[in-house]
Amino acid sequence: MIDLFPLARPFLHRMDPEDAHGLTLKLLAAGAVPQVPIPPLPRLATRIFGRDLPHPLGLSAGFDKNAQAFHQFPRLGVSFAEIGGVTPLPQAGNPRPRLFRLTEDRAIINRMGFNNDGMEAVAARFAARKTPGQIVGVNLASNADSADPANDFVRLARTFASHADFLTLDISCPNTANGKMFLSPGPLRDLLDRLAALFTTPGLPRPPLVAKIAPDIDDAGLDAVLEVLLEKGIDALILSNTTLARPDTLKSPQQGERGGLSGPPLLTASTELLRRVFRLTRGTLPLIGVGGISSGADAYAKVKAGASALQLYTALVYQGPWAVRRILMDLDQRLARDGHARLTEAVGVEG
Ligand SMILES: Cc1cc2nc3c(=O)[nH]c(=O)nc-3n(C[C@H](O)[C@H](O)[C@H](O)COP(=O)(O)O)c2cc1C
Repeated sequence: MIDLFPLARPFLHRMDPEDAHGLTLKLLAAGAVPQVPIPPLPRLATRIFGRDLPHPLGLSAGFDKNAQAFHQFPRLGVSFAEIGGVTPLPQAGNPRPRLFRLTEDRAIINRMGFNNDGMEAVAARFAARKTPGQIVGVNLASNADSADPANDFVRLARTFASHADFLTLDISCPNTANGKMFLSPGPLRDLLDRLAALFTTPGLPRPPLVAKIAPDIDDAGLDAVLEVLLEKGIDALILSNTTLARPDTLKSPQQGERGGLSGPPLLTASTELLRRVFRLTRGTLPLIGVGGISSGADAYAKVKAGASALQLYTALVYQGPWAVRRILMDLDQRLARDGHARLTEAVGVEG
């Protein structure tokens, strides 16, 4: 079995980025992407949400917004995944073009604006396709024109609670008007209270609730948000979403596009946010590190900064389906070289 992506990439990358992504999803959904062989790597075993994972690397939100292909993600070798973002009502998102490859930087800028089929259609697909044992969360967001964004999250949570392994509250989307309103403590407290009330409903399971933050938050804002999240019993955090910042190192002419930046230029900011949160929470909360992971070294940096699990997206666009295998094997060697018998020993050693 060999990696054929170097042959496919020039073809895919000549296409419009959103069309190329649509084709990739179709191929994945049809089972046309060969299974990437992941050797047993017992050192990488980890736990998140009380669940055992064979290794820490999952697929992050935005890749499969409509639950079209997630049931085939195990072919890529990921140990868990997140579908969405999903909003209650179907939403067209921002006008195209809204997805840009920064090829020279191996990065992406997106301002998709939560284009998705809406919760009814996505939940039906999700329930029909989810296979037993697969760990898949759902990324939740409010509709752009919602009169009551907190209620959107409540409706979404009710709809997905029975099938999702975790629910992510995306409170850091840079691409919609109300994407960041829950970064204010008052609205955030109200949102979490309303979700807590929902989960007193008899018979409704309460999956772990996870919040996702972006590095664009300042220190005071982060302290305030964490205080509320901890007080209200959030189960884990995902760090981080994309950034509106544009590091000086960017080379691509596309860097001026509006939207959230992902890929290697996001690595440092997202890892530093993770480290800050690990310090502030003193390791009491499971942290999922995401942002710019494209090598074992990047993955290891996030584990040492405090991540128990990891996610990626942009590396798949540039490296294809074998990215996960390469990153895991490299991470395993790095842990071995540092004398760690288990990944869990290394979590937060540089936090
Ligand atoms: C096209 C695109 C769409 C995304 N959509 C979402 C989304 O709907 N919800 C969300 O929480 N994050 C979304 N993200 C952010 C990713 O989940 C991830 O946090 C970010 O891309 C950083 O990881 P990476 O550098 O490995 O890509 C999106 C990213 C991209 C590139």
